[in-house]
Amino acid sequence: MKLNTLTRQPFHRLLPMTALLLGSAALAQQTQTLNVGDLNSSYNRNIWWMSIAVIVMAILIFAGVSYALFYTVNKFREDKSTAEPKQFHGNNRLEMVLIVVPVIIVTIITILAARTMAIVNPTPKDALHVNATGAQFWWAFEYPESPVQGGTGTVVNGNELVVPAGRQIAITTTARDVIHAFWAPNLGGQRDAIPGSKKTWQIDTDKPGVYQGNCSVLCGASHANMRFKVVALPKAQYETFITAAQAYKAPAPSNASEQNGYNIFMQGKASAGAAACLSCHRIQGTMAAGAVGPDMSFFGSRNTLGAGIYEGQARINHIKPWIKKCVDLKPGCLMPAYEKLSDQDLSDLQAYILTLKLPENAAYWGKVPVQ
Ligand code: CUA
Repeated sequence: MKLNTLTRQPFHRLLPMTALLLGSAALAQQTQTLNVGDLNSSYNRNIWWMSIAVIVMAILIFAGVSYALFYTVNKFREDKSTAEPKQFHGNNRLEMVLIVVPVIIVTIITILAARTMAIVNPTPKDALHVNATGAQFWWAFEYPESPVQGGTGTVVNGNELVVPAGRQIAITTTARDVIHAFWAPNLGGQRDAIPGSKKTWQIDTDKPGVYQGNCSVLCGASHANMRFKVVALPKAQYETFITAAQAYKAPAPSNASEQNGYNIFMQGKASAGAAACLSCHRIQGTMAAGAVGPDMSFFGSRNTLGAGIYEGQARINHIKPWIKKCVDLKPGCLMPAYEKLSDQDLSDLQAYILTLKLPENAAYWGKVPVQ
């Protein structure tokens, strides 16, 4: 949501002010919606209607207290009478009202909150399971129900979470190093991702689209650069994606440049003191099986680089500087620098990893409108 369009939004779309304040520095690059009032999510709808009930009660209380205040000030204002005021002590009826009414109000709010928690927290049996693991400073999204065909492990994607619209997603969060938090405001509430702990809850949206997500717990130098996208596809297109992802095998290099890039990825380059990329990164269908850094299997089909720092063409433009010294682009980035690789080597690496593409009909970007 761009700032200059704020004034034209209906009220419930203005709620994301909190989210805007959280990430205003990062906002300039975020063209996708970031909206806690997105009622296309059943999670958000439940929270929304509970909030409306509580806000209505708050307005009634405000009106009642204001009336009592003005009534009292008016009725008991100073008068000219010199007669002695009526002498009394206490008022049992008033005191009972002042105890019973707040107890009723708090009880109603408690019931509303407990009811809403009971609705939004359990994950339905037919939910799609996804594991979201936070690490400094990126996300691994794993599909435990989708084993890789003829290989080991399951489908994994880095920093881009592809889900079907119109279906509940059971997200299980954890973290590798410090506490992070998963939050895609349009799809539901935020949850901490804690090392050694697994928490499952659900998110959902009815509306296909691209949604912004952020880590929402301060986790280090690049906390603000720990973003992700949620790409919600129509169900049929999600099936196409996940089927193709399960069957995916990285294409073999098709020219000398890609071959050199492939060699550096798989073997490193001793003469340049460069370690092999495969020790940290996985590419499905090759010998690369590292899990320390983001999965690279579908890198060529992605639209973001550096956990959402760069998008679109900016992403392509920053691949080489990223490999060369990512800490210059992203404070605290843990990938080692490869400053001694020649410009040609960097170009070859870029050429190779950009070939890592899902089949065109399964490439999820471009299948949904970017709002
Ligand atoms: Cu991870 Cu903030």
